[in-house]
Amino acid sequence: MKGLLEGKVALITGAGSGVGRAACLLFAEHGAKVIAADVNGDNAAETAELVRAQNGEAIAAACDVADPASVDAAVAAGVEAYGRLDCIYNNAGVTISPIPGKGLRTLTECDGEDMRRVADVNVMGVVHGCQSAIRQFEKQGGGGAIVSTASVAGLIGYGGVFYGATKGAVVQLTRALAIEVADKGIRVNAVCPAGMLTHYAGMDPDSEHRGRILEGMGRVHPLGRAIDPRDTASAALFLCSDLASNVTGVNLPVDGGLSAGRKVGG
Ligand SMILES: NC(=O)c1ccc[n+]([C@@H]2O[C@H](COP(=O)([O-])OP(=O)(O)OC[C@H]3O[C@@H](n4cnc5c(N)ncnc54)[C@H](O)[C@@H]3O)[C@@H](O)[C@H]2O)c1
Repeated sequence: MKGLLEGKVALITGAGSGVGRAACLLFAEHGAKVIAADVNGDNAAETAELVRAQNGEAIAAACDVADPASVDAAVAAGVEAYGRLDCIYNNAGVTISPIPGKGLRTLTECDGEDMRRVADVNVMGVVHGCQSAIRQFEKQGGGGAIVSTASVAGLIGYGGVFYGATKGAVVQLTRALAIEVADKGIRVNAVCPAGMLTHYAGMDPDSEHRGRILEGMGRVHPLGRAIDPRDTASAALFLCSDLASNVTGVNLPVDGGLSAGRKVGG
């Protein structure tokens, strides 16, 4: 099926890598005009170039989601280029710096500045994206779709505690905001992926051990496969599209069944 976002304008944050880049390419394949926004402006520009190379339409925006003015500027750049905004995909996210050679930090190992940085991007970044998009949607007379990338760690206790708390905030923001703006015809949903091999948390998707890493990630998912960034982008595409026109307030796991439970005796 193609053309799910034909004629729509979508702003995607964290567009320079991983899920965000996959979403830019996928949304454009489905007819969207894309604003590829990332704090790393060069990577955002590279994503926009990749979209154009597949005959899609895209512009890039250097945008720090932790800064509301920067998000407003990215939305304004999109509106200037394409005349309107139909969807925002708040995907940019960071995690607590791992301990070299050990990995995830316990809560007591987290430092205050690092936690504030993660909250500023993962929580306030989503808040800023929602505020900016809602203001633009209102100017256009209502309607519009907001999707955010939360995490399976926002649904169950899994992995880093503080990171999970920021994603849990996105999960709850999604429900509460969906109710708040429903009468404006604005839909608000989130996707909740499990482990993906991206540049996230210092991982290397081009690692020579890629196969082994993916196998290890897949082992914790009942379906047995690691999550591909395109799996998450596909769920976001559905939620942005008119196929989901009566879906709001949903936090959709993209986790191979991880959050559903576990087999008795398994
Ligand atoms: N990779 C995983 O295992 C995993 C699992 C669950 C959820 N997630 C979430 O998926 C989303 C995408 O992560 P990814 O795996 O593609 O990681 P990634 O590191 O490959 O991509 C994240 C992108 O966000 C950008 N970014 C970081 N801070 C930003 C800021 N302040 N403003 C704008 N852009 C910023 C980075 O430059 C990068 O391009 C994140 O929200 C992450 O928390 C990832």
